[in-house]
Amino acid sequence: MNRHLGKTILTYATALFLSGCSGDKKDNLMIDTKNETINEKVNQLISKMTIEEKVGQMNQYNGFWDVTGPVPENGNAKKKYEHLRKGWVGSMLNVRGTENVKEVQRIAVEETRLGIPLIIGFDVIHGYKTLSPIPIAEAASWDLEAIEKSARIAAIEASAAGINWTFAPMVDISRDPRWGRVMEGGGEDPYLGSKIAKARVKGFQGDDLSKNNTIAACAKHFAAYGFSESGKEYNTVDIGTATLHNIVLPPFKAAVESNVKTLMNSFNELNGVPVTGSSFLQRDILKGKWNFNGFVVSDWASINELIPWGHAKDKKEAAKIAATAGSDMDMEGNVYIEELVNLVKNGTVKESILDDAVKRILTVKYELGLFDNPFRYCDPENEKKSIGNPKHHDAVLDVAKKSIVLLKNENNLLPLKRSGQKIALIGPLANDKNSPLGSWRLASDDNTAISVFEGLSKYKDNSLTFEKGIDLVEGATSFTQPLKINNTLNSSEVNKALQIAKSADVVVMVLGEHGFQSGEARSRTEIDLPGLQQELLEKVFKVNKNIVLVLNNGRPLAIEWADKNIPAIVEAWQLGTQSGNAVAQVLYGDYNPSGKLPMTFPRNIGQIPIYYNHKSTGRPNQESHVFWSHYTDSKNTPLYPFGYGLSYTTFKYSNLKIHNKKASVNDNIKVSVKVSNTGNLDGKEVVQLYIRDLFGSITRPVKELKGFELIELKKGETKTVEFSLTKKELGFYNSTGDFIVETGDFEIFIGGNSSETLKDTFYLTE
Ligand code: NOJ
Repeated sequence: MNRHLGKTILTYATALFLSGCSGDKKDNLMIDTKNETINEKVNQLISKMTIEEKVGQMNQYNGFWDVTGPVPENGNAKKKYEHLRKGWVGSMLNVRGTENVKEVQRIAVEETRLGIPLIIGFDVIHGYKTLSPIPIAEAASWDLEAIEKSARIAAIEASAAGINWTFAPMVDISRDPRWGRVMEGGGEDPYLGSKIAKARVKGFQGDDLSKNNTIAACAKHFAAYGFSESGKEYNTVDIGTATLHNIVLPPFKAAVESNVKTLMNSFNELNGVPVTGSSFLQRDILKGKWNFNGFVVSDWASINELIPWGHAKDKKEAAKIAATAGSDMDMEGNVYIEELVNLVKNGTVKESILDDAVKRILTVKYELGLFDNPFRYCDPENEKKSIGNPKHHDAVLDVAKKSIVLLKNENNLLPLKRSGQKIALIGPLANDKNSPLGSWRLASDDNTAISVFEGLSKYKDNSLTFEKGIDLVEGATSFTQPLKINNTLNSSEVNKALQIAKSADVVVMVLGEHGFQSGEARSRTEIDLPGLQQELLEKVFKVNKNIVLVLNNGRPLAIEWADKNIPAIVEAWQLGTQSGNAVAQVLYGDYNPSGKLPMTFPRNIGQIPIYYNHKSTGRPNQESHVFWSHYTDSKNTPLYPFGYGLSYTTFKYSNLKIHNKKASVNDNIKVSVKVSNTGNLDGKEVVQLYIRDLFGSITRPVKELKGFELIELKKGETKTVEFSLTKKELGFYNSTGDFIVETGDFEIFIGGNSSETLKDTFYLTE
């Protein structure tokens, strides 16, 4: 629902005229200060601000219609308007569309004493109106250019709708597919996660933040949210310092090094301290060690949550702890606006803390160009032209194809023959135009994805019939409401599906999760095919074994039965607006799949957490007796390892060479490998390099990704791929968070996934 605010909307020219000529504003900021640096302008402005106005800059309100968290009782529109007019609001989220943004911005710049513009934030997670694949899917492309481009398109559309700040990228590393938010991130690996963080920040922010089509990015959730105990949402995190520094923090650091303008903290606690109140994370590491100059926004009311966590006894204490710890802006929590002024006036919180926060916030506003023209993101013509632009559809189709991972392809069932085939399309997600849009898509329109049925229908030389067989969900679905999974089998629907399956040459089944089964507040204890889908799959299998299973899901699934029985399996995630076209082009071989898993697929829930970069243990692989680190009822290996994905062609790795077998810590260690396309089609391969530091003062993982290259090889072609390893790749953080490089034996592995690799060794000296 999109409700206009029902106010007169002034153009920027009128606003300028009014503010410049009427003389009713004492300290209008739209004065020509071009010759001053941003720093000087900000300091000058802060010197004019009252304590109330400073706290106002640290206050962020939700808008008036979209809601992305629990609505506070006192969060009403009347109060928000009053506060806007007093200059007690520095930012709003979930206000979108040029008209609506213009209206709140007009109040901020015209009706407040200082006329400071708002910064307008929104969850542009995988596109605005035109949707890219969900982030975990994009991560599977390992294609950093495509990922950057997808963020660029999201920024172009969002900025055209008046938005100047996205709450993305989510760079939380996670090893637990029960956690619904793995769909929003780059998977389990800090190296890949860091590269993706960088690409996405660049895509959103571009080279010049003050351009009308670039927006400030926000690396979230700082920190360790992805390690929520048992994958349960909003939960405790208890991890050691080595994991924190080596696994959790690197993508945040990469985002900071890429000049990300903001970070968001989060709902979890870390080792006993809710992170919104953590000085260790926000002051010592982020703003201290990393010298981050942007600002930190809380998560939705996470400052209030210091109270139920049992860390602050009331709002006063929560405000004091969070502000002191470096949470610069309060998202829809009302805590700063209610408490901080008095806390400063009575000396409990130092005014310098406010000054530091406000300086950071104002600096980003200046960098965005909001002081030069607060309405620069509010051009209705541009809004019409940019949002849903056909070029954006082409680009999201491109990244959607690249995100698909071929998990199994027995007897080359895929690609499908292009003619003379009877294809039966079955499954509750096969003609779904909503679910493939995925979660986090507030600004897109429902039912606008191309379904797999629509995509396959474009290939006219085969006959295509469709039956859903079962429903996955009952009733309406929404981002804010729980889903109801259907558990009632309608035998006549099932029979219709079995009928078309019986007479088909190939059955394509589209099964998996509904788009709202992953995302925030969507933790699950079972990660197999939900509802009646497994039953349907087995029934169809009984009448026709020639099945291509296309999966739609926002997290790794445990599909051991399917892996054992179904000849072809395609991981198609939730691919956004162009979903069905991307799937059809891959199934028909118009695009040869090149995606690789960014997260391990377990065999079963009991294996979780399962991840490739685990430790060796003191008792690895000793199958000759029972006393070793293993399960008695399941293998240790995953169903599909990290980095895994097939192609319609085959690749052979040979000649792994480490050019300096004895190297010093200051050397560049050159490694090369030959990769040949040994199949019958041109294809792409992600060549992956892993290291193992064999003996460390802190034990090191059995493998760590430290390089990858996406290459294209023509049929029969061979290429030599070279990598260069430096201290940066060979060192690690010790338990006090210091980066060290230790001499000794290393192993190097190169291959097309984290399990099947060539191996060689070298020795690192001082
Ligand atoms: C809560 C989520 O945790 C966060 O990621 C999101 O950006 C905010 N709500 C705003 O919608």
